[in-house]
Amino acid sequence: MRAGHPVQILDRHKLQDQPTNEAEVEVFSVPSYACQRRTTLENRNTVLTDALSLLAENAELSAEEGRGVAFRRAAAVLKVLPEPVTDMTQLRGLPCLGEHSLRVIKDILENGASSEVESTKQSERFKALKVLTGVFGVGAKTADRWIREGIHDLQQLKDSRQTLNRAQRAGLEHYDDINQPVSKAEADAIGEIVEEAVASVLPGAQVTLIGGFRRGKLTGHDVDFLITHPEEGREVGLMPKIVSWLESQGFLLYQKTTRNSYLESDDGPARPCSNMDRFERCFSVFKLAEDEKRRAGQTQSHYASAEDGGLKPWRAVRVDLVVSPISQFAFALLGWTGSKLFERELRRWAGHEKTMSLSSHALYDGTQRTYLRATSEEEIFAHLGLDYIPPSERNA
Ligand code: UTP
Ligand code: MN
Repeated sequence: MRAGHPVQILDRHKLQDQPTNEAEVEVFSVPSYACQRRTTLENRNTVLTDALSLLAENAELSAEEGRGVAFRRAAAVLKVLPEPVTDMTQLRGLPCLGEHSLRVIKDILENGASSEVESTKQSERFKALKVLTGVFGVGAKTADRWIREGIHDLQQLKDSRQTLNRAQRAGLEHYDDINQPVSKAEADAIGEIVEEAVASVLPGAQVTLIGGFRRGKLTGHDVDFLITHPEEGREVGLMPKIVSWLESQGFLLYQKTTRNSYLESDDGPARPCSNMDRFERCFSVFKLAEDEKRRAGQTQSHYASAEDGGLKPWRAVRVDLVVSPISQFAFALLGWTGSKLFERELRRWAGHEKTMSLSSHALYDGTQRTYLRATSEEEIFAHLGLDYIPPSERNA
């Protein structure tokens, strides 16, 4: 600058190679948005990520969404590291690791456990929130209200004579089944039933397994399916027909169907896309019979029944069905494959880095003031300027 022109480049101007120290710990480099990263199910840091996930869960159950997201982001960064973390110096320069998360990690590395995580696990409030929100149809708000009324467990809930809605009554009745993980084999057996239902009421309609199972998870808390028809419009009114068929065959213990009310507007999405989308959607509890699984070529002993400790020939499984018009299919597929954090990060990337707005229905470009069309997930990643990440690598 003093010379007023570019000067000759001398050795001392160049970055110097630091002498490498064999004992030096490995330092990692990770992009800051989860949707820029490939997160498989292989996680070398489960002790740390389990701890952070528990704190995230506790924050979410306590209506502290911001803190919840911060812990989720921190856990997601640790999930992509190629080696177990053994030393705090390895975390230097990594994104999304806030002061609080670092404190928890340090505690675990130095003491084998985090005092905050352990005390949260033991806390009566956390335990009660977990048990009560384990009832299908009960969210954090309802659970919190019940706890303030002195209800901490299922027996107290039953004794309290609280008025429960239909979903909650089903949730309570099938509590043990619904809180038992669903296996891939069970998901496949349910897939066959859904295929049969769909083929019976609208030949040509297509069923796709979405959610965690599409990402390659071996268990899930529910099974999610996306249904469409290659001819736009043919999917209208499809859900009630599928539900009627399933009901007539005795497959449903509970169902609630909601309507599609999504319309594109010339000014773009009315508000930043909320994650509550507006497809025709059915929240249900399936009755999965043992012989349905056998028919699907699987064998397993009978399901245990909680009441008498005996065996019953079926179990209850939470199933979500979503119907999308073919024009929105790629967006629905991307939006419903998850993980939840991956989806959140995609929307944050779209908004903050691209001035775009992404939902499970559409991608709106705020600069060009147009909707960007796509018929595949690959095209959506391309619109967003991101490398394509396949479902098995979206396990952030
Ligand atoms: P799930 O809650 O079923 O999660 O939502 P999951 O990844 O399948 O994991 P399990 O079931 O706990 O094993 C699946 C996807 O659907 C989206 C979520 O963002 C998630 O990515 N989703 C869910 C919505 O878009 N809207 C909703 O109302 C619910
Ligand atoms: Mn799911």
